[in-house]
Amino acid sequence: MGLKFLSWILFIYLLVFLCCSYGGQARELVGKENKFLETSFEENKHTHHMNHLAPSLMVFFTLKDLKAGKRMPIHFPKRDPANSPKLWPREEADSVPFSSNQLPYLLKLFSFSPHSPQATAMENTLRECESKPIKGEVKFCATSLESMLDFTHRILGLTSEIQSFATLHQTKSSVNFQNYTIMETLMQIPAPKMVACHTMPYPYAVFYCHSQESGNRVYRVSLVGDNGDRVEAMVVCHLDTSQWAPNHVSFQVLGITPGSSSVCHFFPADHLIWLPKLHVHGSSSM
Ligand SMILES: *[C@@H]1O[C@H](CO)[C@@H](O)[C@H](O)[C@H]1NC(C)=O
Repeated sequence: MGLKFLSWILFIYLLVFLCCSYGGQARELVGKENKFLETSFEENKHTHHMNHLAPSLMVFFTLKDLKAGKRMPIHFPKRDPANSPKLWPREEADSVPFSSNQLPYLLKLFSFSPHSPQATAMENTLRECESKPIKGEVKFCATSLESMLDFTHRILGLTSEIQSFATLHQTKSSVNFQNYTIMETLMQIPAPKMVACHTMPYPYAVFYCHSQESGNRVYRVSLVGDNGDRVEAMVVCHLDTSQWAPNHVSFQVLGITPGSSSVCHFFPADHLIWLPKLHVHGSSSM
């Protein structure tokens, strides 16, 4: 009797231990994703909301301000790579639906309750990915590195070598938003064609990639923050904005109308610019 009782206690104990340690692990995993989704949701809000006072919107400017000595407030989100969503292998990503029709199933799969900030972020990302491209634009949401490369090759030319550019933080700092001054190093990178890929809030890595036919310029700009931070920032300037939606957030931030001015923007560190690799003649002499 005593032994039976003891084994019963042991069984309960084991059950509790198993359930709770497993639950703890799951909570930790979901917690990490939640944290990322919350921060990136905040940061990506500007694609869905029109609050022009949010610091996250301070990435837009016009071509005339792209000159050495210019000082302006810029938002550079710092992300902890440990909390960023992971790239999934293509087979894994392709085995999960990526469609707003499947949202209830997806929320169950990732254990997010409907109407949670994470559910809203996922829904916004899916809708953004399903929206029609504007005139002269090609877009694609890549759920794996392989699919991002396929799309990029299709746009830039199947036979050309491609290379990617991204903003680099030269110094470690926790400041997300401050005034930066443009230094002398301001380099235009030839971009006959371009694909820009933006990370989207999602439980695994999703890139919103797009390419516009009309004139774009790509620059690498050295910046120094008021606190001494140094950033090698990537900038894309869109020369023709006439096809953009009149309520595009950049117009509200800059106080301009479609087609009246160029729109430039800084790229956060985890977004990518893909360009064809140009072979400069004479550079390999010696
Ligand atoms: C940037 O500088 C301007 C003028 O010096 C100042 O009014 C503004 O508060 C600064 N912005 C930030 C984010 O530090």
